Amino acid sequence: MAYFEWGDDMVIDNGPIDQDHHKLVDLVNELHTATTRGEGQAVVGKIMSELIFYTRDHLVREEREMERVGFPDLVEHKRSHALFMEGLNQLVDKQAKGSITIASQLSTLLRDWLSIHIRRSDHALRVHLKKSHQLPRGS
Ligand SMILES: [Fe+2]
Ligand SMILES: [Fe+2]
Repeated sequence: MAYFEWGDDMVIDNGPIDQDHHKLVDLVNELHTATTRGEGQAVVGKIMSELIFYTRDHLVREEREMERVGFPDLVEHKRSHALFMEGLNQLVDKQAKGSITIASQLSTLLRDWLSIHIRRSDHALRVHLKKSHQLPRGS
């Protein structure tokens, strides 16, 4: 069983947002595997950077997509992204100061936040897309 298991209840748009979320789940699992295997700082650091960059990019992409489709709770949603980024940036600062426990903290933080955020908050976008007939047929 994967560290961060994808669930069907995490499907949002059968499109770009799901692709981003899948990629994030894969990266969290990759980081977890690397840390539990005791891979060196070079490997772990590379995955961490990719994960942090990809998370930032995803949140921006998602907000743009929400704007494009007229998602009504965008302001609130942006606030929850900003709050999460604050926590993430604090971890990045710790990493810069050389703390070695950051990798496992990062995979836990992202797994826990993403699995709840996607299922509760991003899911509201799915409801909006459905209601406004913007989902592809059959999804
Ligand atoms: Fe998302
Ligand atoms: Fe989101």
